[in-house]
Amino acid sequence: MTVPKGIRPSRQIFSTEDARRIAARRLPKLIFDFIEGSAGREVSAGRNTRRFDEIMLQPRVMADVAVRSVATRLMGRTYGLPFGIAPMGMCDLSWPGADKHLALAAKHYDVPLCLSSAASTSIEEMYGRADENTWFQLYVGQSMEHSMSLVDRAEAAGYDTLILTVDVPQVSRRIRDLRNGFQVPFSIGPKQFVDFALHPRWSLTTLINGVPSAKNFAGDKGAKFDRNGSRAGADWAFLDQLRDRWKGKLVVKGVTSADDAKRIQRCGADAVYVSNHGGRQLDSVPPAIDLLPLIRNAVGPDYPLIFDSGIRSGEDVVKALALGADFVMVGRPILFALGAEAEIGLNALFSAFAGEISTTMAQLGISGTDQILEQVLFPSLDQAGKMPGSNLKRTNIST
Ligand SMILES: Cc1cc2nc3c(=O)[nH]c(=O)nc-3n(C[C@H](O)[C@H](O)[C@H](O)COP(=O)(O)O)c2cc1C
Repeated sequence: MTVPKGIRPSRQIFSTEDARRIAARRLPKLIFDFIEGSAGREVSAGRNTRRFDEIMLQPRVMADVAVRSVATRLMGRTYGLPFGIAPMGMCDLSWPGADKHLALAAKHYDVPLCLSSAASTSIEEMYGRADENTWFQLYVGQSMEHSMSLVDRAEAAGYDTLILTVDVPQVSRRIRDLRNGFQVPFSIGPKQFVDFALHPRWSLTTLINGVPSAKNFAGDKGAKFDRNGSRAGADWAFLDQLRDRWKGKLVVKGVTSADDAKRIQRCGADAVYVSNHGGRQLDSVPPAIDLLPLIRNAVGPDYPLIFDSGIRSGEDVVKALALGADFVMVGRPILFALGAEAEIGLNALFSAFAGEISTTMAQLGISGTDQILEQVLFPSLDQAGKMPGSNLKRTNIST
């Protein structure tokens, strides 16, 4: 897959690990830690990625795989790749102009770009840049009036897909952020000053471009962005209300329980987005990828499922599709890539993932993402009767 015209290929980013390593050097510690950090002792974030390492795929030989397509259908539309950009707040903190680069990438690769309620770009401006590739992600709680005004603005701007995030009734304790004194807007004491001074490139570029802020809270309806405020307004009654109110596609994000997924399906949502928030909310949550086949089992074969949490390579995308996802979103690797090399890094990451998906398909003897089924797993779910390497038995789950 080619990178957009005018963007030179990266000479240093060929994987998430490359991007992470360089971002750790270039970004102030408090920014890098905001991106990478997770809840509690950060066990769940590690588990998410380790589980992917344990899942294996079964190569098949001598199939005609000379021509392969990574285009993928989701909710009635065909996207250029089977993965998109997960909603993440304050992306411009990863590097000035990050949101602009994300919009260009979403258009170029034809993938969904999920704009967070806590984004550093407004709902209207982002839609202006990436139009129908932009989805809007809603947090509810701090002010119901403000939340509903965001829904109205998304509708007026032309958005077709709304994601309701439901796994943040309260932002969890993220110990790195507490230690670093991370706050939005920044509170700069001696510790933060030294951190910024030691990373002059990020600090000066950020000063020149303007310190990012939560643009959808810019004095609108009197709501101020409170990163630690409750977001518990997204309850079952609210979901019913929103389903009546929002005529476009409605996706519910942050689901890890098969019973919750079934109830959301019954409420008329168009898709369930299986995610444990990359381990940023509950440190003892099971790895999201272990829960995916259980949720697929519960909602049936045809109901759209989107997945994130722990995806670090194109092969991981293939594994998630094989375990029941229709589409995958990528979180931290995108911000690492931006932090490491801005738009060059972002495009390097997209190329790496897209290339890996295509070559993995060649190894598996398949030519389209619709053929990525559980049969490509080793051992297959049916042979194993459970997730490879996991003690979660599919058959234990009531449907
Ligand atoms: C810096 C950062 C900010 C995030 N902000 C949001 C957000 O505003 N809304 C949301 O629904 N999820 C948010 N998430 C969670 C992601 O959408 C996604 O679920 C998670 O990053 C996936 O895990 P991964 O990073 O291992 O890919 C955020 C994640 C990160 C890393």
